[in-house]
Amino acid sequence: MSTPHVQENSALEHDTHGPRTHTCGDLRAEHVGQEVVLKGWVDTRRDLGGVIFIDLRDRYGLTQLVFSPQDSISAYQKAERLRSEYVISVRGIVQKRTPETVNPKLATGEVEVRVRDLVVLNTSEPLPFPISAHEEKRTAASEDVRLKYRYLDLRRPELQRNLLLRHRVYQVTRRYFDAHGFVEVETPVLMKSTPEGARDFLVPSRLHPGKFYALPQSPQTYKQILMVAGLDRYFQIVKCFRDEDLRADRQPEFTQIDVEMTFPTEAQIFELIEGLIQAIWQEIKGITLPRPFPRMRYDEALRRFGSDKPDTRFGLELQELGSVFQGSGFRVFESVLEQGGTVVALVVPGMGDQGRAYMDRLDKEVVRKQIGASGLVYFKLPSDGGPVYSSVKEHVLRPEVVQHALTVLQAQAGDLVLLLAGPKPQVYLQAGALRLHIAREQNLIPPTGEGPWHFLWVTDFPLLEWDEETQRYYAMHHPFTSPHPDDLDRLEVDPGSVRARAYDLVLNGNEIGGGSIRIHRQDVQRRMFRLLGIDDAEAERRFGFLLTAFRYGAPPHGGIALGLDRIVMLLAGAGSLRDVIAFPKTQRAQELMSNTPDEVSPEQLEELHIRVVLPETASPRP
Ligand code: AMO
Repeated sequence: MSTPHVQENSALEHDTHGPRTHTCGDLRAEHVGQEVVLKGWVDTRRDLGGVIFIDLRDRYGLTQLVFSPQDSISAYQKAERLRSEYVISVRGIVQKRTPETVNPKLATGEVEVRVRDLVVLNTSEPLPFPISAHEEKRTAASEDVRLKYRYLDLRRPELQRNLLLRHRVYQVTRRYFDAHGFVEVETPVLMKSTPEGARDFLVPSRLHPGKFYALPQSPQTYKQILMVAGLDRYFQIVKCFRDEDLRADRQPEFTQIDVEMTFPTEAQIFELIEGLIQAIWQEIKGITLPRPFPRMRYDEALRRFGSDKPDTRFGLELQELGSVFQGSGFRVFESVLEQGGTVVALVVPGMGDQGRAYMDRLDKEVVRKQIGASGLVYFKLPSDGGPVYSSVKEHVLRPEVVQHALTVLQAQAGDLVLLLAGPKPQVYLQAGALRLHIAREQNLIPPTGEGPWHFLWVTDFPLLEWDEETQRYYAMHHPFTSPHPDDLDRLEVDPGSVRARAYDLVLNGNEIGGGSIRIHRQDVQRRMFRLLGIDDAEAERRFGFLLTAFRYGAPPHGGIALGLDRIVMLLAGAGSLRDVIAFPKTQRAQELMSNTPDEVSPEQLEELHIRVVLPETASPRP
């Protein structure tokens, strides 16, 4: 590859100023009269004809510089050529701003620096998008462009604030666990596959043709082994990798605060984690969260909120109406009930006067298309107390039945009643999705980054989940989660009814953590694998090391992992995990700045014993 010819940049000079005396966020009225040296980026330049103002920016803030021919004609002339994001060093005298030019929004807003000497340390090409610290000077750039020039994007104060906040969360976490006797242990990144429900990222082995490492979906098996090893209390701030469909709150590589302890009870784990969360909120928000956090069983969460991560900051709770429609003559609902399904209602105050067009859109676009329910039945109760309107004709759904439903629901004039019917548990989840849709539309959800902070432990999850498509059970958390001891004898006879000793931590409708008390007995672990369709031979191949370890005095143990990125996102009020990760991946799992993933050389592939067979739709780049 030939090196491109680089033209000497004649604007650049040697830095004759020595180290900076202050950052761009330091200067206050008390510094007036001092000679200072500042270094940073040109944020904005205002040329007022005869005097030039520059806002100089670094991580710490903005300082106003004043260039005037009276102070230094050469500095003034050089300042005329400065452009956005040039890197400069200035020497000058701090002076008080005149009262009418004081900027109370800026920490350094009482002062400015009259520049005596300017050194241009580097220039900048015109920017692909404006990045001034002054919000009004920015225009929206597409996220793809921002990610391609991530180093420019990261100069924006909001993103720097997010990274700093994240840094403080690491520090509180490490101090907290250290103070509680936890040991930080690093676990391998090249490991054997651990099933957390996503696809693995695989790394081919050069030394072992045809064999692969997997990147950890979590360090689950290693942290359990550390308990067998007698470490007693482990934590790690650790990268995890999952090849799954991405959303605003999911990244293919993300960070967990991973924890495991020996001889724990659920109560001890809750107390430990509540203490950590409290310490984080104290540090970042300066508030003392009330403890203990509320708890809710999975069943209740599903029935009341249609979700295993309920947002309890607003009402609109679901109500079950199965009994009202039993024997009602309304065949659609009756047949759902006969097949073991149910009818779920949502009463929305203030929407009883909605027009036909809105209701049709809600039914077609939202309920059927987005949520995937079979259809919407609704009753409108006009706010003027006029007659109730039912979306189902009178000869199909009798007015007495409608009235009965409204009485049970205690619906009032002005309410809109929405009904979904279907098999359990899907119908609860669909009603939960509808609840969130309506809440967003009605502005019932407070902005992120601000309180109220509704933490909630969701407990008593089922151990297993039945999948119709593959006709088999899956572990609801992961296969190492302990069944409830009272349910152990039903493991083979009625697996669907077995509860897990698992718990999730939810914040404002976001799952920010999950964990469990583990299986520590080899026999129980084997039974669990069999239930999941993993026979003894396969169990041995995939998890033999764990099963063997369990034969050598494995103590009872349990733990949890918190989603650090999600916690930081919620604290920062960011709309996406991408805003709290320095170099995130896009929705298509690409890192646009360095263009990752990328092709590799044929030699590398050969060394790794790999031949690439592209799918027919994907053509190689020229
Ligand atoms: P789990 O799979 O629930 O548990 O993960 C723990 C927490 O990690 C966060 N999280 C994610 N954050 C961003 N992007 C993702 N793709 C992503 N996936 C998960 C969530 C989640 O609650 N080994 C178990 C923990 C244990 O049992 O101790 C585990 O990984 O906030």
